[in-house]
Amino acid sequence: MKKANIVTNILVCSYNELTEEQKKVIDCAKDACTRAYAPYSCFSVGAAALLANGEIIKGSNQENAAYPSGICAERTTLFYAGANYPDTPVCKLAIAAMKDGAYITEPTAPCGACRQVILETENRYSSPIEILLYGEEKVYIVSSIKELLPLSFGKENL
Ligand code: THU
Repeated sequence: MKKANIVTNILVCSYNELTEEQKKVIDCAKDACTRAYAPYSCFSVGAAALLANGEIIKGSNQENAAYPSGICAERTTLFYAGANYPDTPVCKLAIAAMKDGAYITEPTAPCGACRQVILETENRYSSPIEILLYGEEKVYIVSSIKELLPLSFGKENL
């Protein structure tokens, strides 16, 4: 028997240290938060996906009185991108969140279901997606969902 350790590589930085392109995608995710439909959780999440053609797709969480029928911002965004630009890879995905009218200070990480969908999107285009997690005090950057979803289940398992 032996112990195996999995390492997650995260870049921690401030908004000012980002490239102009990274800032633009984050700004879009912050803007998307303002259009969340989150009357039940009062937690507004925004996501923005930069596509390989330079377009940025925005989405937000859309809740439902029947709670499981709602959907997260990341999946709203990636499903829209996949449905409307099926041949265009996603290069970057930014996520921001708002609570009590203010952007959260610590970055919010995608939930398990969204991680699985981000993985599917990477696999679909055979292209890693840089993920930018925004917090007012710091930003986390990972170069691929594989950092956040190790030991994943994907098409190679079928
Ligand atoms: N939410 C997202 O939109 N993305 C995440 O990664 C985490 C959670 C939403 C779902 C729900 O509308 C609200 O945040 C509270 O869980």
